[in-house]
Parts: sequence; C-alpha cells; structure tokens
Amino acid sequence: MKPDDSFAASLPRWPAAFNEVPKWVFEDADVFALELDRIFRGPVWHPVAHEVELPNPGDYKTVTVGRTPLLVIRGDDGVVRAFHNACTHRSTKLAMNFRGHTGDIECPYHRWVFDTQGQLRACPGEAEFPPDFKRADYNLAEARSASYVGLLFVSLHASPPPLMDWMGAMAGPVRDALGGDGRLKLLGYQKVRYQSNWKIYIDNDAFHAPLLHAAFRILRWQRPTGRQSRLPAGHMMILSAVDEAPDHGGLLRDPSVIEYQGGAAPRNKAAEQGPGSSLLAFWPLTAIANHLDIFNIRYANPVGLDQVEVHYAYFAHADDDADLVRHRLRQSSNMIGPSGFVSLEDATVFMRIQQALETDPSRTFFLKGYREGADLTETKQNDEAPNALWWEHYRQMMGFTREAG
Ligand code: FES
Ligand SMILES: [Fe+2]
Repeated sequence: MKPDDSFAASLPRWPAAFNEVPKWVFEDADVFALELDRIFRGPVWHPVAHEVELPNPGDYKTVTVGRTPLLVIRGDDGVVRAFHNACTHRSTKLAMNFRGHTGDIECPYHRWVFDTQGQLRACPGEAEFPPDFKRADYNLAEARSASYVGLLFVSLHASPPPLMDWMGAMAGPVRDALGGDGRLKLLGYQKVRYQSNWKIYIDNDAFHAPLLHAAFRILRWQRPTGRQSRLPAGHMMILSAVDEAPDHGGLLRDPSVIEYQGGAAPRNKAAEQGPGSSLLAFWPLTAIANHLDIFNIRYANPVGLDQVEVHYAYFAHADDDADLVRHRLRQSSNMIGPSGFVSLEDATVFMRIQQALETDPSRTFFLKGYREGADLTETKQNDEAPNALWWEHYRQMMGFTREAG
C-alpha cells in the first residue's frame, strides 16, 4: 500500500526549531516507504553512471534507485539508456552482475530475448499467444534519463523538472569536477554498505571533518577559506583550497599519497589554480568529490531502513599519462575511499548513531550554529547548520508538518 498524505499527517510533528531533526525519520518502515515514493520515485534526478563506465556497445551496469533495479546499457547504436531491469513477461530480473558486456539479453525463465536497445526480439511459442499480441508492446520499460558532461541521470517520476533547471548553479562545478570535459577513464570501484539509515550517511556534516578524522586534523591541509553553498533544489557544494605540501610530521611512510600532481590535469579549473577540493552533493544523496588529484563519484542508495550502499567510482582524465593514472589510483582509494585514511572513521560513526537511535525518543538531532533568520545558503566550508536546509527540503518533499513555534 502506498502511504499517502493522511499517513504523513498522522506522524508526530516535525520540531518547530529549524535546526532540529526528529529521530522517528530514521526508524519507521512507513516513513521509508513514503521516501521510496516521494523521493526515489519522486520528481528528482538520480546520477547512475558516467558514460565512460560503459565505453562499448553492449557494456552495461546494474544499479538500484530506491527499490527499482535498473539496467544501464550502451545499445548497438551507441546510445546509453536506462531500462527497468525486469523481463516484461513475468518480471524476472534480467542482468544480475554489477557490470558486464552482453549481446542480446535472454531471460532464463521462458527465454524471451531483448536486444541492447531494449526491444523484444523473440519469445518462444509466440504462435500460441493471443492474436493481438505485439512484441513492440513488451519492449523493456525505459526510465527517463538525461546526461550532462557524460554523467547519466535517471528519474522514475513521470514529469521531473528539466535536468539543468534542477542542477542550477551546480552545473559549472560539476563540469570542473568531471575533468572539465567529461573525458574520463574509469579506474575502478570500491563498494561499501554503511550500517545506518541513508539519511545518517548524507547528514554527515562538514563541521566534523577536522574533529572526527585524525588524519585530517594531523595534516591540517584544508585552508579555512572555503565556502559551502546550498541550492534551491537541495544540493550542496563545498569548494575549498588545499595546501600543497602539508606537514605530516613523519607519520606517512610514503608521502607521495598526499602529493598533488595536478599539472597534468589541464581541464580541471581547480587544478589550474592550485590544488583544490570540491564536494558536490546532489539532493538527495549522490556526490562527486574532487580532492587533490582525485575524481570520484559516490553513487548511493538505501538498501533498506538501516543500511545504505555506496559505490565509490574512481576516475582519471583521458589525457593523463601512465604515472598520473597510477598516482590517482593510489590516492583515490587510500585517501578518501570508504577506508581512506582521512575518512575511515565515518563508517563507525554512522553505525554508532544507528545503534543509539532507540534512546530517549523525545530528543532530536540538533545542528549547531543556527541563528533565527540566518542565511544558510552561503556559509563557511565547515559549518554544520546548513544541513538544516537539506532537512527542510526533505520535510517539504515528504509532506511532514512542522510544529507551531
Ligand atoms: S519471465 Fe522472462 S520470459 Fe518469462
Ligand atoms: Fe567524514
């Protein structure tokens, strides 16, 4: 059953204070069902693949948006499309691997065959089907998709906003973070399942970085001059400068892992201006990070109420020489991957928050630094209060009512 407005209205009220988040949003199965409907099947775009992940016709990748499995495949005509990953006969899931290469796709159950453009090509026993059966009515269902600098977004909603309107002012930084022209080369993936509700993962604030992460603090490389911006569609951008040669006090046996070699990354604006760091988080939860020589995309999706899966995809630029590709590969996963040395504590904190949700339900999460009437759309890079704007977007999308103040 689809939760409706009466369900949203029946929940406890959202706290009146703008910087408070109620705990019940993390634990209620009906809230999760409503999120699947209003957010993951809502008027939102979800980044699912960069076209360089599927360089050749027949290359595919399987992803899940909310609970909907999708098959992202480059057709024989060279076009990348996103189909519902389900046979149109009786809904058997078609592709089971994370990535692969295929010709026609045959469903194992009754052997219907689809081509790489999603068209139904053969179905055994067709002579016995009803006389008005037409194969064309049973092509794979295609999700709405749009791409920007090679990044493919899908929406499961019937009428999402135009992609560029939805992306707004983040379009330029996204272009830069994808190498300036999207001519990337896939280096590989790391996948992780964080043991927490997906919103605990994305609520990971910028304030915590130098406090939680020991290596971040020791290296002290992030200059405090960066900016955090929040956009009308809920997206977040943090753009900051990074010190080129931080003093690691001899703690790193191989300091090359924190070196900046960006001179050979000509299309990255941040690189032209010295080392930079950008974190661009599309609402609701997939982000692109560009830090020193790292290009990564963190595709994220909830697995259920208490787990979120994140696929870190690492890239080099197509023009990089072999040394720079190797450097990017080492730096990417070792520094800010799921077990990177400046980010590995996050997984534990997400789990510990999840484990403590069952305590005093009257307590809310609160975000520090908020003052009544403050403009949170442009702040310092490491502020926590702007997360309140993510939550306000969430509250409105979900139709939750705020308590009177
Ligand atoms: S379910 Fe795929 S052919 Fe029957
Ligand atoms: Fe972190």
